[in-house]
Amino acid sequence: MTTQIAQWHAEHGNFSLLLSILDEQVAKFRDGESPDYNLMLEIVSYLREFGDCFHHPREDAAFTILAARDPQMQLPINRLLQEHRVIAAAGEELVARLNQVVSDAHVLRSTVEAAAALYLAYYRHHIATEERQILPRARLLLNAQDWDAVARAAPSCSDPLFGNTPTGTYLRLVELMPARPSVGGNQDAVASP
Ligand SMILES: [Fe+2]
Ligand SMILES: [Fe+2]
Repeated sequence: MTTQIAQWHAEHGNFSLLLSILDEQVAKFRDGESPDYNLMLEIVSYLREFGDCFHHPREDAAFTILAARDPQMQLPINRLLQEHRVIAAAGEELVARLNQVVSDAHVLRSTVEAAAALYLAYYRHHIATEERQILPRARLLLNAQDWDAVARAAPSCSDPLFGNTPTGTYLRLVELMPARPSVGGNQDAVASP
């Protein structure tokens, strides 16, 4: 259980690192410099692939158990569940806008900036809320059987970027990572929260 909580926290650290890198690229775009669009696309793609498909479904399962154990958690958990859907939609929107830029389609700079700002703000706030309100309660209230149920909510997989054997899908990010402190690296098989 302690390992699962630690992995949950480490994944938030990895996501926050990627959001900081994305934020740097968005600032370049805003200032009229040339951002690395492929890097930006890789970041959002990773967060969609790993975050939306593995991290969030496990959280959804943990939230359901947590709300049953502590009904006062129901309201904040409802908000977080809604944010999972909003983050997924905002990620899809940002990828669409970035692809328009890359393919030289007409797109307003303000539209791209707004999509990126919304994604960054939502995701950062979401992670901060989970770290502050959810992880401490989950540590107290979930038992071993609960954690087994959480693990079954999404298939076990190797983290395609921060695991011991990156898949090679995220080439720009893999190039960049040695220069950055990895928060949750060397986790081959990804545990549930
Ligand atoms: Fe979440
Ligand atoms: Fe999370």
